[in-house]
Amino acid sequence: MKYKSLELEKPITYELEGLEIGITSNCNFRCDYCCAYQRNDGNSIGAKEIIPLLEQLPHLKRVRLSGGEVTLKYEDCVEVVSYCAARGVQTQLNSNGSLLSEERIQRLADAGLTTIHISFNFTTAEAFSQYYHIHPSVYQKIRNNIAMFAKTRVDTVLETLLFSETEHHMKEIHDHVYEMGARTHEIQNSIIMNHSGWKAIAARETLKQAVNDLIAHKKEDMTLYFTCMDRFMEELGFQERPGVYFPHCIEGKKQLYHYFGVLPSCHYWQYTQRYFTA
Ligand SMILES: C[S@@+](CC[C@H](N)C(=O)[O-])C[C@H]1O[C@@H](n2cnc3c(N)ncnc32)[C@H](O)[C@@H]1O
Ligand code: SF4
Repeated sequence: MKYKSLELEKPITYELEGLEIGITSNCNFRCDYCCAYQRNDGNSIGAKEIIPLLEQLPHLKRVRLSGGEVTLKYEDCVEVVSYCAARGVQTQLNSNGSLLSEERIQRLADAGLTTIHISFNFTTAEAFSQYYHIHPSVYQKIRNNIAMFAKTRVDTVLETLLFSETEHHMKEIHDHVYEMGARTHEIQNSIIMNHSGWKAIAARETLKQAVNDLIAHKKEDMTLYFTCMDRFMEELGFQERPGVYFPHCIEGKKQLYHYFGVLPSCHYWQYTQRYFTA
């Protein structure tokens, strides 16, 4: 099953095929844009609770584990991935990449992980450190982890948030993604966070230019996914083509988002309907 294939197909039946589980609300980062609403409230769910849930879903095709930072519950991740792999269910971990290591990467690969999804927003240790207030050495560690994952059979997807800090650097970021060995780059449109007051999302014209520039700049063997843009893609003149996709939100149709024990609709929809500033 291709990355985002559930989001790209038009469902004929509405069986529950995808599940996203917020395995922990805790995180070792403090990103100001963070969409994890109840971050660090201490909530988490372990493999012993997750696996019986999955056993009740016969049509399951994909399980995504997110947070918070999933690798804070590393052993639970390995257990869920192994269970899913044995059942032929695909798995994805969404991580900031900072708590991985060669041994941890190898164990996840051996357990049968399908996709690793790592955030990548800055091209220098200085810019990374200045923005996140995290030691610059963590930046190189994340890059090394990405490069190691890209050498395994695990599909390595890097995600860049399109917002004020990245909107004028997308091509450069994309080149770094390529250099580290990843061949899938997801551009996540940033969304205003009403709960925290964060609103440094891209302006309409800047977003339009960044997307068009990136598509024109795309290397032959790269695949681009522009997420949370499908609703205005026609308005801005964006078009899909081989290797360039605008996946739609399938929440409530084929996928549920299980956020630390509750089941809201799409975690982005709950914040705002606005996706760019005027
Ligand atoms: C909440 S994080 C959890 C996984 C992991 N901690 C990470 O940062 O990659 C999941 C994804 O949400 C994205 N995200 C965070 N805040 C966002 C926002 N305000 N709008 C859109 N996406 C956001 C991040 O870029 C990240 O790729
Ligand atoms: S690393 Fe992910 S979960 Fe942690 S604060 Fe940043 S966006 Fe939120």
